[in-house]
Amino acid sequence: MKRTKLGIIGCGMISSTYFAASKKFRNIEVIACHDIIPERAVAKGEEFGARSVSLDEMLADPEIEIVLNLTPPKEHSKVDLAVIGAGKHVYSEKPFGVDIDDALKVITLAEKKGVRVGCAPDTFLGGGLQTVRKILDDNWIGRPLSGTAIVQGRGPEKWGHAPFFYDYGAGPMLDLGPYYVTALVNLLGPAKSVTAMTGRGEAFRTYGAEVSEEYQAQYKPYDRYPVNVSTHQAGVIEFGNGVLITMIASFDVHHHGHAPIEIYGTDGSLQVPDPNTFGGPVRLFRKGFTRWEDVPLAYGCTGNGRSIGAADMARALENGRPHRADGKLAFHVLEVMLAFDRSQKEGRRIDIQSTCERPAPLPLGLEEGDIGD
Ligand SMILES: NC(=O)c1ccc[n+]([C@@H]2O[C@H](COP(=O)([O-])OP(=O)(O)OC[C@H]3O[C@@H](n4cnc5c(N)ncnc54)[C@H](O)[C@@H]3O)[C@@H](O)[C@H]2O)c1
Repeated sequence: MKRTKLGIIGCGMISSTYFAASKKFRNIEVIACHDIIPERAVAKGEEFGARSVSLDEMLADPEIEIVLNLTPPKEHSKVDLAVIGAGKHVYSEKPFGVDIDDALKVITLAEKKGVRVGCAPDTFLGGGLQTVRKILDDNWIGRPLSGTAIVQGRGPEKWGHAPFFYDYGAGPMLDLGPYYVTALVNLLGPAKSVTAMTGRGEAFRTYGAEVSEEYQAQYKPYDRYPVNVSTHQAGVIEFGNGVLITMIASFDVHHHGHAPIEIYGTDGSLQVPDPNTFGGPVRLFRKGFTRWEDVPLAYGCTGNGRSIGAADMARALENGRPHRADGKLAFHVLEVMLAFDRSQKEGRRIDIQSTCERPAPLPLGLEEGDIGD
């Protein structure tokens, strides 16, 4: 089996997950890493057995076929363009960009250069969401009609480091929305329009204010910083197949009792697991029954598998088929997410201009660490 060689740009918090999870997939290997703060690349390289290199060295290395871009959101398109410009395939963390124009430049240059673009999240390839996809495709709830997608919390105050999350390019929709909207597009197909209202609960937030005393001791708490994005976004996504999903993404909520995603069909209802995870639970309510049933997961990759999208991209390249966590899917998801604020600003329903293919489901019966042909 071919082992495609990968490089990582951006050796911050999430990079450890990629370094570790990529080792689960037999067809990929991270051999080099880079960060604008070189000590970070050196440390991760030593921990996970990769060479720390300069950007130029990474882009010139003929062995590296795919570069994982794990930089902060505002850097994504700039780094993607550099990688593509060097003739390499790129797989970026989410969101795909912070505005449509930059994201479009990435898609356009990749087409010109004949290279592939992939993008997180790849959680929709996990055992939980693949099981939901099979239940829907096999018509267990009949024709889907409507549903909800609700991601709410108090934002990053709970986990300490915060300012980046309240700045342009983040907020609850661009930070957490990609998991939800990508899951929905995988389940239901591309979206057609968005009608929404958005707002900002507080003009300033206080860093570390809601973490435990023990955690506060590790961070410098109580710096106030401005909120530059809407922190509550509520609306309806109309999908091309007519399904209406009510979506809320909020950093203004202390506690709530909604399931992450529910889908209601002509013959039943489905509770979808948290799309920021790879596992379950998956719950089904069938017409005529009196309660939810837990559905056993039919697929593997239920632990933290961030890298499965890159492993799939590597195999897709080898076998000349489309990869699943595709840049065009991520571009469409970005347009849907940005339409919430646009709908508020323009006071109208926003028609979504882009579209994408619904990714192929994974085959049943894959061994752990295998991604199929
Ligand atoms: N932290 C998480 O739990 C998490 C989870 C899922 C996804 N993500 C996504 O992953 C991305 C990175 O998040 P993070 O939490 O690891 O951030 P981070 O700030 O911890 O790490 C980013 C790293 O990128 C480096 N960097 C910045 N610009 C660069 C450039 N131009 N070239 C090379 N290196 C550069 C920084 O020095 C830093 O080490 C974001 O898009 C985020 O949305 C994060």
